[in-house]
Amino acid sequence: MQANEFNEVLLNRRSLRALATTPIPREMSLRVLEAARWAPSCSNSQPWRFVVIEDEPELNAVKSALKPGNQKWASSAPMIIVVCANPEDDYLASGQPLYLFDCGLATENLLLQGVAEGLVMHPMAGWEEQPMKDAIGLPDPYRVVCVIAAGFPGPVENLDVDLQEREKSPRVRKPLDEIVVFGTWPKV
Ligand SMILES: Cc1cc2nc3c(=O)[nH]c(=O)nc-3n(C[C@H](O)[C@H](O)[C@H](O)COP(=O)(O)O)c2cc1C
Repeated sequence: MQANEFNEVLLNRRSLRALATTPIPREMSLRVLEAARWAPSCSNSQPWRFVVIEDEPELNAVKSALKPGNQKWASSAPMIIVVCANPEDDYLASGQPLYLFDCGLATENLLLQGVAEGLVMHPMAGWEEQPMKDAIGLPDPYRVVCVIAAGFPGPVENLDVDLQEREKSPRVRKPLDEIVVFGTWPKV
């Protein structure tokens, strides 16, 4: 693969909300999950677990555990992936909860593979944890780290008007000179 092709995948990844109800073929979801499996993790601890929900009544239960703002658009998703981890699996190298960082890396792999497959993959933090755990049967001490709505792109007209506008709005990022320091941290 050319570097510019990879860049295209990066730039095409968007947290879109218009999702078709069409099911995702199993071989496609396996490729997406396989991409997550190859993420780096601290001491190769691989703390991530992925609970893939596609069938009723669990799919509806998972959607009911989303915050209302997410329910509005994620209700059409044919698949919800719940990224989970056991905090006790944390590899304490720096006194930071690195299992969350590792799960983030795996999640990004998953999102990017999804984009390369032509899917919309939208990560969410807006959910209620205990109802989400109940919906997927997740035991303690596992925690829900991230919830991803997945599906093929769907009709934008089905979204609320404000969300239709957000769907088409340009993506905004801080400029490099605000987030990068070459050399040491500038003195004030
Ligand atoms: C950890 C995390 C939590 C997020 N939670 C939500 C959410 O609950 N609802 C939502 O609509 N978008 C959510 N997003 C999507 C972000 O709003 C989105 O990534 C950001 O605005 C940048 O847009 P882009 O992903 O299209 O580049 C979340 C993203 C991340 C990484």
